[in-house]
Amino acid sequence: MLEQLLELQERTLVAVAEARSGEQLERVRVACLGRKGELTQILRGLGALAPEERKRAGELSNQARERLQSAMEERLLVLNRAALAEQIAREQLDVTLPGRARPRGGVHPVARALDEIGAIFQGMGFTTASGPEVESDWYNFEALNLPPNHPAREMQDTFYLPATATGERLLLRTHTSPVQIHVMEQQPPPLRVIAPGRVFRCDSDLTHTPMFHQVEGFMVDERVHFGHLKGVLAAFLRHFFARELPVRFRPSFFPFTEPSAEVDMGCLFCQGEGCRVCKGSGWLEVLGCGMIHPAVLAHVGIDRERYAGFAFGMGVERLAMLKYGIGDLRNFFDNDVRFLRRYGASR
Ligand code: FA5
Ligand code: MG
Repeated sequence: MLEQLLELQERTLVAVAEARSGEQLERVRVACLGRKGELTQILRGLGALAPEERKRAGELSNQARERLQSAMEERLLVLNRAALAEQIAREQLDVTLPGRARPRGGVHPVARALDEIGAIFQGMGFTTASGPEVESDWYNFEALNLPPNHPAREMQDTFYLPATATGERLLLRTHTSPVQIHVMEQQPPPLRVIAPGRVFRCDSDLTHTPMFHQVEGFMVDERVHFGHLKGVLAAFLRHFFARELPVRFRPSFFPFTEPSAEVDMGCLFCQGEGCRVCKGSGWLEVLGCGMIHPAVLAHVGIDRERYAGFAFGMGVERLAMLKYGIGDLRNFFDNDVRFLRRYGASR
């Protein structure tokens, strides 16, 4: 019995010293000290011994157990420390390597404004359409109730392309309103559509550039009236600027709407006092709108007795100027990197 105990102790100490991992060590512990372990068996067998012998054997067994337990604890510490050192070595980070610079790009304020405008109208149930930037006279003017030689054509200084072989003169669209015609030709009412895009006019000063962006919007359905137009635009402006700003609807004229209006926002640069940006008026025009002219509905074959519609065309750069406080519209297209750094949104 004593020999058996000594032999077990020696054998287990060797196994402990040779354990290469926590799991291996645990297996050694269970085999010796677990519920069915060898030492546990020996301790259980003590009861069968004579009283004298039992006392001595009990002491020795307990000593052996304590020794083995502390050997195992020590070995576990050594193994854990080694595992940690190995993990640290594996996950080492070389902090002397050069860092990665964040990309410098940002979202151009016009792209940002276009995204925001699109999201707001989407929320009001509008879908998105687009049309060509090179247009025929019909789509840009005639179908919009602007016959040849109509004086209102001079409201927009048009860039014409050289005449084609058939003598047709194509042009760069001066507004997004021709998309109204393209959509209404193809889809029956009810319609709720926006059409963002680039437009071109021979124009340049603080608030005009030869290329700029508009978002056209229109709704055609039974019983649509001017109140709907006003409500949609007021809701849009409130969302877009996220605060109440001075807004006014001013009666105006477009051949393709009747009645027509233009919407001005209080000039943010002078708080309405009058400055260079608003040309002393205290107001900045952001959009034109009105009830779609019955002649336009007739051109696309929509029953003007049954349906009515409103339409608007907003200047995206003008809205962005006011929202982000950009005092000169020409800055948008100078591509000065300092401007883009200041007003470009990070992604
Ligand atoms: C139009 O272009 C009409 N098609 C708008 C419309 C649509 C009316 C549907 C009725 C129904 P206007 O020429 O006013 O209208 O231009 C609309 C907006 O574009 C202006 O209010 C202004 O915000 C912006 N805008 C006009 N010209 C320029 C320019 N050269 N540079 C920057 N923004 C401009
Ligand atoms: Mg105008």
